[in-house]
Amino acid sequence: MSPRPVPPNVLLRREEIAERVAELGEEISAAYAGAEPVLIAILKGSAIFLADLARALHIDARFDFMSISSYSSERATGVVRIVKDLEHDVEGRHVVIVEDIVDTGLTLNYLRKTIGARRPRSLATVTLLDKAARRILPVPVEWRGFEIPDAFVLGYGLDHQGLYRNVRDLLAVPDISALVARPDLYVDELFPAAAGGRAGSS
Ligand code: PRP
Repeated sequence: MSPRPVPPNVLLRREEIAERVAELGEEISAAYAGAEPVLIAILKGSAIFLADLARALHIDARFDFMSISSYSSERATGVVRIVKDLEHDVEGRHVVIVEDIVDTGLTLNYLRKTIGARRPRSLATVTLLDKAARRILPVPVEWRGFEIPDAFVLGYGLDHQGLYRNVRDLLAVPDISALVARPDLYVDELFPAAAGGRAGSS
């Protein structure tokens, strides 16, 4: 029998996240009073943050979504391709890019350039998490929820191999090599009801 994995640490509890998201909602509402901004969520990680942030606003806002992917061999250069583009024209609109995390800054730098070229009335970014220690490109971030250390994080939208996005707290993984070797390492522990269901149905 393999030894039990070292469990991930809770870096941010769901209550702390909710409190900070509410504050961001207040600040962004005040900044865009009467302006009906377009919130552009960058899929997939920011979907959960968008849902909570949008409901923390006191103003109306439109949503749009963009999905981009890095060319793997060129990741460090920030060369990306648009997998899903915006549905609506943002020219003349107040735009807020909604990110779950800014890490190297390469993605946000690309997004600011490509969306900025569409002549929005204003362009700003809100990110839940800022891993500032990892920044390669300095890029403006108008609102940040939390600055976090350079740890591998999961939950509240952030994944590993597509798993763990719907974990409600933000977790820091102590042993990334164990998770790389077994991507579902923490699934049974974090979702015990699912483990019981699978055992029962085998
Ligand atoms: C994450 C995050 C940002 C980007 C930040 O997306 O949502 O878009 O990485 O990294 P950077 O600052 O180093 O460029 P990811 O590529 O993991 O896609 P996902 O949101 O679909 O998980």
